[in-house]
Amino acid sequence: MMGGLESHAGIELAIVGATGAVGETLLRVLAEREVPLAELHAFASRERAVPLSFRGRPVAVRAATKEALRGHDVVIFASDEQVSKAFVPACIECGATVIDNSPLYRLAVDVPLVVPEINGDLVQLGQHLFPVGNCTAIILTMALWPIARTAGLRSVRVASYQAVSGAGKPGLEELASAERALHDGTAEPDPHAFPARIARNVIPQIGSLDDAGDSTEERKVAAETRKILGLPELRVAVTTVRVPVKSAHSAAVFLETDEDVSVVALASALRASPGIAYHDRGIVTPRDVEGHDDVHVARLRAESGSKRFFQLWAVGDQLRKGAATTAVQILELLIARGLREKARLLRA
Ligand SMILES: NC(=O)c1ccc[n+]([C@@H]2O[C@H](COP(=O)([O-])OP(=O)(O)OC[C@H]3O[C@@H](n4cnc5c(N)ncnc54)[C@H](OP(=O)(O)O)[C@@H]3O)[C@@H](O)[C@H]2O)c1
Repeated sequence: MMGGLESHAGIELAIVGATGAVGETLLRVLAEREVPLAELHAFASRERAVPLSFRGRPVAVRAATKEALRGHDVVIFASDEQVSKAFVPACIECGATVIDNSPLYRLAVDVPLVVPEINGDLVQLGQHLFPVGNCTAIILTMALWPIARTAGLRSVRVASYQAVSGAGKPGLEELASAERALHDGTAEPDPHAFPARIARNVIPQIGSLDDAGDSTEERKVAAETRKILGLPELRVAVTTVRVPVKSAHSAAVFLETDEDVSVVALASALRASPGIAYHDRGIVTPRDVEGHDDVHVARLRAESGSKRFFQLWAVGDQLRKGAATTAVQILELLIARGLREKARLLRA
């Protein structure tokens, strides 16, 4: 535990999964953005002998239990959906507001799926559960939103190129150990985090395939894109692909607008949109955007002079904008709408 960060003026925050890829990024983003915290408590599957570090101070890591997760103003989950299933309802019953990076509640009715630049008005104090969307869906919707507002959106087709850190620390470790083995000429370990060998390869399957041939990741991206954009009838076709990139997801996007529009008008909408870095010319790659919060958009063009069919390339650091940064932005909106005052009243 670490106390006295902002004395009584801040909120008491717990992070479940603080030792994971998203959890570590959360600690970095919270420190960078100077979020006012009175206390920060870190939880994982088990206690650690060595503390984490936050703003230059040690933070003990404890095992998550229902009892240990009581009494916090906000709990951010950066663990899998089984952990959310076990602990989220109890946290909410105890009066906490929960921000959940797992997929468990994203499509639940009456639960908003917030990307602050798109639908941040849905962050209200009476609401106690805020799932954070799928990382590819967040990057995709950030790029689509300015277009949808300018000319409407009829259909989207997307092929994603997703980094190994999208599968958390096990994904990062699997690529690193396979690269080492290939470099040293030793036996390459069998794949565990991915359905095929990831080094020097691309894998056109993320999650399990259903009877129709879609993967779980593809179903998430399609359904969450419709929910975030508030376009339940939008046609979305997705192929998600794992690539041997450390961080940042990319997407080749093919879209159809409702109305005639020019590339110039869409470019100017993208350029003016918060959270978007628009590239008029040239390319942008995953390595260029590691550590960035913006979603980068490049290669916007019309299909053979069309006024309705366009293509673009979108890239974003999925550990940041696709998870941690969006979670922290939701927390900041809650604080801006009076969460600290409400928490102080409840504690008094
Ligand atoms: N990686 C991404 O790009 C990304 C993007 C968007 C959303 N997400 C979602 O974010 C969540 C975390 O993903 P990740 O990539 O950070 O995974 P990760 O690197 O594998 O980290 C998982 C974290 O969960 C903790 N954990 C496991 N079992 C637990 C338990 N029983 N109680 C408490 N904590 C437990 C782990 O603790 P130990 O270290 O003790 O095992 C670790 O801190 C997942 O739901 C994922 O779908 C990930």
